[in-house]
Amino acid sequence: MIEFFRVTKRYAGGQIGLDGVDLRIDPGQMVFLTGPSGAGKTTFLKLIYCEEMPSSGNILVNGRNVSSLPRSKVPYLRRTIGVVFQSFRLIPRKTVFENVCYLPRILGLSSREQKKLAFETLRQVGLAHRLNAFPLQLSGGEQQRVAIARALINRPEILLADEPTGNLDPELSDEIMRLILDIHLRGTTVIFATHDRDLIQRVGRRVLTLDQGKLIDDYELPSGLAAETEATDGEQK
Ligand SMILES: Nc1ncnc2c1ncn2[C@@H]1O[C@H](COP(=O)(O)OP(=O)(O)O)[C@@H](O)[C@H]1O
Ligand SMILES: [Mg+2]
Repeated sequence: MIEFFRVTKRYAGGQIGLDGVDLRIDPGQMVFLTGPSGAGKTTFLKLIYCEEMPSSGNILVNGRNVSSLPRSKVPYLRRTIGVVFQSFRLIPRKTVFENVCYLPRILGLSSREQKKLAFETLRQVGLAHRLNAFPLQLSGGEQQRVAIARALINRPEILLADEPTGNLDPELSDEIMRLILDIHLRGTTVIFATHDRDLIQRVGRRVLTLDQGKLIDDYELPSGLAAETEATDGEQK
């Protein structure tokens, strides 16, 4: 569960990132975060994974107050949260396998365990056959799949996606959207920031709208794409 209590983020230059936001996201929910550029979407996500700290207010992630988390505890929090970015952020000189193994290696898993986890996770995103490729040998959609695998390898309870389809063609966007929905349907809480209103309409579910740092709308859309995926889910596995 993620809870915001009157959360405000004011950057050093005085810019307002987030302005008095109150909300609750239940475990396993799928939520879209929308609003124009500069509305505060990225700030909202950064506050959850402690890339930024709020200027006032409190944020609880699974009951733990992350707004006062000492720096040394941040890596523990990050083990339960996966993050995906618009620009993929893969390491170009490392293979797909090495990019995905970054976290297990840091956590000190044996190379055999790393391999097993990486293989399973790459299979989940449909890229087990590209283990030894380098990021630039892959299409944009495939690179984003690798980035998703990297975010998932730790089996996080929460997946934060910051405009993950922003650099992709509509067809590839849908592919990535389906993959992220599949992850949600397996029980992960997903917060998906996008300003693509069409995408949100197609998928449905809860929609939070930010404007100039304020939460100006919070409503539920009927499930679209999600329902389709649910219906075929059993056949795929
Ligand atoms: N590191 C930063 N330093 C100063 N201002 C920032 C910083 N990051 C974001 N902002 C400002 O905070 C506001 C919200 O930005 P952001 O969260 O990136 O919005 P969005 O992701 O919706 O485009 C904007 O006015 C932006 O200029
Ligand atoms: Mg942003």
